[in-house]
Amino acid sequence: MEKNIAVLSGDGIGPEVINQSLRVLDAIGTKYDHKFIYHNCLIGGISIEKTGIPISKSTLDTCLECDSILFGAIGNPKFENSKIRPEQGLLKLRKKMGVYCNIRPIKVYKKLFKISPIKKKYIENVDFIIYRELTNGIYFGKKGLSLNQTKAYDVCNYEKKTISRIATAAFKAAVKRKKKVTLVDKANVLETSRLWRETLKEIHLNLNLNFKEVQLDYLFIDNASMQMIFNPQKFDILLTDNMFGDILSDEASAITGSLGLIPSSSIGKKTPMYEPIHGSYPQAAGKNIANPLGSILSVAMMLEDFGMKKESFLIKKAVNNSIKNGVSTKDLNPKYSFSTKEVGDFLINYIINN
Ligand code: IPM
Ligand code: MN
Repeated sequence: MEKNIAVLSGDGIGPEVINQSLRVLDAIGTKYDHKFIYHNCLIGGISIEKTGIPISKSTLDTCLECDSILFGAIGNPKFENSKIRPEQGLLKLRKKMGVYCNIRPIKVYKKLFKISPIKKKYIENVDFIIYRELTNGIYFGKKGLSLNQTKAYDVCNYEKKTISRIATAAFKAAVKRKKKVTLVDKANVLETSRLWRETLKEIHLNLNLNFKEVQLDYLFIDNASMQMIFNPQKFDILLTDNMFGDILSDEASAITGSLGLIPSSSIGKKTPMYEPIHGSYPQAAGKNIANPLGSILSVAMMLEDFGMKKESFLIKKAVNNSIKNGVSTKDLNPKYSFSTKEVGDFLINYIINN
């Protein structure tokens, strides 16, 4: 197969982790005779520095023409107080690609139980997926700051149709798994949350959709944050809005032991995107210490969506093996850590020989 991939490394540790992802992808390409063609584009702080804006039309056009987007990380403290911010580039990209469905799998590794802040008995069988709505809600509502800078607002918008499409995706995923959807919201306070509940109830009961066998639960966000620590094994598909999904996914990553481990895919109307859930981690940039696994596992999700099942499986197997053997960066193996590139070397070697 031949695939065109837009590569948006972005800021901080983005370029380093993407580098390892591309090496892994090349190894897969060689082994299975696929041609991956990379199109490097600017986004984020680096784009502001070079072009004055966080994402240009040329980046957006390239992304629209490609089969997928590999995204690294975004954010630079240098722009903390400026009006033009790196993050605006990512939000614009998500909106333009229409990738409303963000999928973040949370899975634990035996070898890492000891670095999780949570006791083994609570996390042994953790295996759930966060379905985060990605192109609406408070991130994209009207916002403003008064002239004297003493008042500000951010509006949270949802419509039945923008809730339905991600809810349907979540139910479909649940049917193939443990048949459970948990909606996380704040329906005791927020009107948008009540609309989410209403919409979900309708979808659940719609006989044409065949979701009746799926168990549908509701949790308030404050309660869900607690249950994620005390009882994370209860979740299967956790469905939530843009802001709650952002917060809960960082919390969920802590269960696994590291934010650096979690990949994601974002699917919707146009080109799908694949990105680790971590940020740009500027303190580590350029030091060859960042964990590349979040990005590399995002590549595995991308290959799966391309229909390259055995290729995707081999990457996951290589990752499992590296963790099992302690060939990991400092976040996973504080005592005998390996560099970002050494982790990549191990994975490539494994892919070639297995
Ligand atoms: C994420 C990130 C982004 C978000 C930031 C960088 C805008 O935290 O993908 O989780 O909030 O969506
Ligand atoms: Mn986040």
